[in-house]
Amino acid sequence: MSLLQVKDLVVEFPHRRGTLRALDRISFDIAPGEILGVVGESGAGKSLTGAAIIGLLEPPGRVAGGEILLEGQRIDNLGFEAMRPIRGRKIGAIFQDPLTSLNPLYTVGRQLVETIRAHLPVSEAEARKRAISLLQDTGIPAAEQRIDHFPHQFSGGMRQRVVIALALAAEPKLIVADEPTTALDVSIQAQIIQLLKQVCKERGAAVMLITHDMGVIAETCDRVAVMYAGRIAEIGPVHEVIHQPAHPYTSGLMGSIPDMTSDRERLNQIDGAMPRLNAIPAGCAYNPRCPRTFARCLVERPELMHAGATRAACWLHDAADPHVGQAEIAARHHEAMAAGERATPEAAESIVEVTR
Ligand SMILES: Nc1ncnc2c1ncn2[C@@H]1O[C@H](COP(=O)(O)OP(=O)(O)O)[C@@H](O)[C@H]1O
Ligand code: SF4
Ligand SMILES: [Mg+2]
Repeated sequence: MSLLQVKDLVVEFPHRRGTLRALDRISFDIAPGEILGVVGESGAGKSLTGAAIIGLLEPPGRVAGGEILLEGQRIDNLGFEAMRPIRGRKIGAIFQDPLTSLNPLYTVGRQLVETIRAHLPVSEAEARKRAISLLQDTGIPAAEQRIDHFPHQFSGGMRQRVVIALALAAEPKLIVADEPTTALDVSIQAQIIQLLKQVCKERGAAVMLITHDMGVIAETCDRVAVMYAGRIAEIGPVHEVIHQPAHPYTSGLMGSIPDMTSDRERLNQIDGAMPRLNAIPAGCAYNPRCPRTFARCLVERPELMHAGATRAACWLHDAADPHVGQAEIAARHHEAMAAGERATPEAAESIVEVTR
């Protein structure tokens, strides 16, 4: 059975003029012990997906549809208080800035011991022993002494090691790590990612690793979900998604990793920007930027469908679609978008009409 199931998750923000839909029917699973990468440009909805899973969506953001199940039990409708014992015990969290997870007024030992004892039936002495061993496992030198130090006495990298220890303290089944190394010195980022991977594998904890860095995904994850405009564009085994991307957006992202292509000209080859939430185009959200747009893409939203070894939300993989010969619409569509035409369903229909 899946450890985590996210089904048709919708997250919305009430807004002066209507509602902004930030996550629009996201679905994916995480198996026990699996590392799932979540990648996509800034604003794609990665952090909101993580926040919805750990029950820390900031109001007025709210789950407006779908379900989140942990070990088969719904957790999306529990509310803040009922989620408290699950956060920590079943789902650990690691954020970009280690200081958001640590209390500056308490020693790291006190925070570890309190977390352990809040969730597990062990004595103070046993909890302290476990805390020292966690700090050792996360690579804190002289853990017996450092356990009585305060967060500010640790360097940024050491602090994030402490946060990893804290996230693992109650032996959760799932760790949600949101850009865990983005705030750290580049020279230690790889070490911290490797550590996270190793300690989670050793304990059989699954990880949802949110990052905008495809290189990290390639080295760390079993599968990857590529997000775009609050939707999943493609999901599949890491090797296949990287080497045979099925969604044009994934191909574009791959083209923008310097290490994976010798052709540096191809850097940042995706023209344009992700749409704002109040201007998501009809049909496929990627259609204004996609070099392969055809008529159907402007009016009908593609769901995830089988595409070789992965699944992609792209009509190019609808075996029943006779799209060949419709390619010229891409040029006309991009012209209209460049001329500032609004991405409304009506505008899309009119382009489809003109081209027919
Ligand atoms: N409090 C909020 N009110 C309105 N929109 C928000 C709020 N928080 C996030 N968003 C929007 O939700 C989208 C996804 O955000 P986020 O999940 O943080 O993206 P990512 O982590 O992929 O960079 C963005 O367009 C962002 O502007
Ligand atoms: S559905 Fe159409 S616009 Fe969207 S990615 Fe596929 S080809 Fe491009
Ligand atoms: Mg984010």
